[in-house]
Amino acid sequence: MTTIHFQSPSGEVTTLKGVVGQSIMELATSNGVSAIEADCGGACACATCHVIVDQSWTERLPAPGVMERDMLDFVAEPTSTSRLSCQLHITDDHDGLLLHLPSKQS
Ligand code: FES
Repeated sequence: MTTIHFQSPSGEVTTLKGVVGQSIMELATSNGVSAIEADCGGACACATCHVIVDQSWTERLPAPGVMERDMLDFVAEPTSTSRLSCQLHITDDHDGLLLHLPSKQS
């Protein structure tokens, strides 16, 4: 199991354990992280699964693909470390990953 932390804009942290291969969006939505809406169900077509990767983790994640980069143009409050959580799949290397939740998805 891999531990992933989700921090709300107010600072509240939700810590979940996911399995390798699972998307971070799936982990969040199946455990009640309501800030991740995921309207398209993971098809990289809605941009409502936006998360902001903590600066300490940005270099440890693979770069976004073309589709993800295109969809990131549609997130409500983009940042330099914005990602779509449906496109991030858990690996053993993600243990302790800290993600910040946006204040709104759309
Ligand atoms: S769930 Fe729709 S883009 Fe990620």
